[in-house]
Amino acid sequence: MSEIRYDGQVAIVTGAGGGLGRSHALELAKRGAKVVVNDLGGAVDGSGGSVSAAQAVVNEIEALGGEALAHGANVLEREQVEDMVAKTIEKWGRIDVLINNAGILRDKSFAKLEMSDWDLVTGVHLTGTANCTRAVWQIMRDQNYGRIVVTSSSSGMYGNFGQANYGAAKLGVVGLMNTLCLEGAKNNIHVNTLIPVAATRMTESLMPPEMLELLKPELVTPAVIYLASTEGPNRTVLSAGAGAYSRVVIQETEGVAFLEEDATAENIAANWGTIDDHSTLKELTAGNEHTMKCVQMASKIRS
Ligand code: NAI
Repeated sequence: MSEIRYDGQVAIVTGAGGGLGRSHALELAKRGAKVVVNDLGGAVDGSGGSVSAAQAVVNEIEALGGEALAHGANVLEREQVEDMVAKTIEKWGRIDVLINNAGILRDKSFAKLEMSDWDLVTGVHLTGTANCTRAVWQIMRDQNYGRIVVTSSSSGMYGNFGQANYGAAKLGVVGLMNTLCLEGAKNNIHVNTLIPVAATRMTESLMPPEMLELLKPELVTPAVIYLASTEGPNRTVLSAGAGAYSRVVIQETEGVAFLEEDATAENIAANWGTIDDHSTLKELTAGNEHTMKCVQMASKIRS
């Protein structure tokens, strides 16, 4: 396998002043990319901010002989994101890679959740990802090249107590990916999703030291390097943590179709074995495939 390189490419990594984003930014730079290190520089809950976190990572990249630019844009603020993109184009003339990584937590059980924390957490993760993606989208279309990674979470895929806001936003970015893959295909724009688990300030109080020791952020970054590469996949959800990598897939069973007079809740219950038959699971790649499947099954039982 030849080395995956990013020579001549320009990458933006959001939330790269620490944790996973820092690791992604450093590795992209080591592999030849010019990197915009974005970070608001706030606390885990999103409060406060300073460009010094991003600048420290830029200093690290420069010390390794790489090229980087710090930007303190808050991904929620469209004007700031547009300014970051404009400064990137001004300096390097293109944007090949966007790693949407910035994120915060405001954990509370749903009963106790302040809806202002719902707005902020879904805002940073989902709208923030859309803001950054939208700001580079036309540039990537014009280039006929782009690689975008969105960062999801097991909380989005499977749920996690106290993370209704975070989990909803994290599955939201998968929905964003699904449509962007369809819309970006003709301009060679790939969009993929990362599901990381790593020891960072976001998780350090949640796990015992022996687990944190295994969960190095640097063991997640190879997944990003693969997902954002020229020869990398499209529309792929890749889980990565502690050196373990696996693909996450949304699938549906073949199911069963009834004639109108038999389409009842009782018949759904009576046929649950068939409806829930995992041996028939299949991945669909667009919403209209789902519509066509329903229509074809209905036609089949009528013919
Ligand atoms: P972290 O807290 O170390 O890094 C997040 C970075 O995003 C921080 O440097 C922060 O200043 C920045 N940020 C926050 N809000 C921002 C905003 N509005 N604009 C720009 N920058 C902002 O946490 P970590 O663990 O490195 O998280 C990175 C991503 O991975 C997040 O999206 C997180 O939700 C996700 N993730 C992490 C997991 C883990 O196990 N660490 C598990 C699942 C997902």
